[in-house]
Amino acid sequence: MKRSKRFEALEKRPVNQDGFVSEWPEVGLIAMNSPFDPKPSIKIENGVVTELDGKARADFDMLDSFIADHAIVLENAEEAMAVDSLEMARKLVDINVSRAEILRLSLSMTPAKLTEVLGYMTVLEMMMGVTKMRARISPANQAHVTNVKDSMVQIACDAAEGAYRGFNEMETTVGIARYAPFNAMGILVGAQVGRPGTMTQCAVEEATELVMGMRGFTSYAETISVYGTEPVFIDGDDTPYSKAFLASCYASRGMKMRFTSGSGSEVQMGFAEGKSMLYLEARCLYVTKGAGVQGTQNGSVSCVGVPAGVPSGIREILAENLLAMMLGLECASSNDQTFTHSDLRRCARTLMQLVPGTDYICSGYSSTPNYDNMFAGSNWDAEDYDDWCVIQRDLKVDGGLRPVKEEDVVRVRNKAARAIQGLFREMGLPEITDEEVECATYANGSQDMPNRNVVEDLKAIEEMMAKRVTGVDFIKALHRAGFDDVAESVFNMMKQRVAGDYLHTSSIFDQDFHVFSGVNAANDYHGPMTGYQISEERWNELKTLPNAMRPEDF
Ligand code: 5AD
Ligand code: CA
Repeated sequence: MKRSKRFEALEKRPVNQDGFVSEWPEVGLIAMNSPFDPKPSIKIENGVVTELDGKARADFDMLDSFIADHAIVLENAEEAMAVDSLEMARKLVDINVSRAEILRLSLSMTPAKLTEVLGYMTVLEMMMGVTKMRARISPANQAHVTNVKDSMVQIACDAAEGAYRGFNEMETTVGIARYAPFNAMGILVGAQVGRPGTMTQCAVEEATELVMGMRGFTSYAETISVYGTEPVFIDGDDTPYSKAFLASCYASRGMKMRFTSGSGSEVQMGFAEGKSMLYLEARCLYVTKGAGVQGTQNGSVSCVGVPAGVPSGIREILAENLLAMMLGLECASSNDQTFTHSDLRRCARTLMQLVPGTDYICSGYSSTPNYDNMFAGSNWDAEDYDDWCVIQRDLKVDGGLRPVKEEDVVRVRNKAARAIQGLFREMGLPEITDEEVECATYANGSQDMPNRNVVEDLKAIEEMMAKRVTGVDFIKALHRAGFDDVAESVFNMMKQRVAGDYLHTSSIFDQDFHVFSGVNAANDYHGPMTGYQISEERWNELKTLPNAMRPEDF
């Protein structure tokens, strides 16, 4: 066939390196409205759910049982289930129906019911829903802070820069699993240097993550995964009950935590049972709610390639986020793992959460270049910082970040590097050299960093963990190293664990360690000029690009 020059040109476009599939409901390759999705129903006898979404109690799997017994407010379930689903969809968009009124109904609806409601909505209408249903009044953002070399010095610097740029939460993970404690220390110290009160976590295997949380290496946890069908849970040697138990362990030590779930995991594991991605994610979110967990990281997250490959998949991701909010959950709304070669597509996908604002618009904006992202690459990374800031300024939306000056970033990076150097010295850990401090201060990524002695580091980590070191030891060492203000911030992070206020839904700290959450800073959006309003001060920050020409320049 003689080729069309137009089609040859189109073929070369980045979007055509992406993978697409047509719908195939039998294996779960369908975003919303699978012909096999159950019809919504509930029957309650003597306070016990005897039928849920068309299934009798005798046929319940463990998710159904958990949801029926723990996740639905039964008092007004019959009233809520009687509301027409299209009518409910319209209430979500209606500025005259409050968030509280939506929650009164949605918390008493079943997974299939909320799935059906969202099936009636366009992305624009869902974005209106998110504007109203987000728990905290102000939006925020979360960063990934990792690198290929597991350099804790670079982690400290990227964390300091990230916190300074505005992230309220930051997470690290590892290349080499046993590096976790050093990486957690790097992100903790760096975050407190960049902006006191920035929360940090280290996403690793569950037992290690819990130990680090209990010992004060971290201030929250997030990657406690739940799934939408029984066989996928079983594959991971888990149940909703085991996950609920793990959640209680964190709560018992005053530590913020949320579950993670998202469409596509069941398809990838081969156990989607013919159900739509949204319906299965609804089940995950009800398990989260039933476990008493305050929030979720959802929106497909690391499985994003699956919904992104099917029709209406990006719409489904927004629907998942909104569904979480309809259960009153904090929502860290993905915009996390990379899913496309196309800049246009990755930006369109993010507008769904950036424009309405969510509790954490990205649940993992990479604070490093792509090659250093040990979560497998993010939809947004350090090299997009200026684009993000310009988009905020163009649209007058608050995406959680702010433009910054080079000299300020260099200053906070250098202080973070020296603080972690001092901490290591005072704790008798392997030396962080002046060369590392210098390189990390000015680095873009780990290619700009010297190598460390990995064997020596891993041995020191083993000894340190055996000595039962805790956050209190970090505070003392930072004080001895002459970083009293950083010691004070780490101390304040520990103190919050006792106060427990940041266990509330959607909590963040400001730099004075005041908690802002869905409880004391609840979203009250009900139309233009209500809800979150960008203050004069914040707008000045957002609009002031260092490279914008000013009248006085002429
Ligand atoms: N479902 C469940 N857990 C997920 N995670 C990411 N995406 C999903 C999903 N769709 C969790 C996993 C992973 C971490 C980065 O987040 O635990 O290891
Ligand atoms: Ca995350």
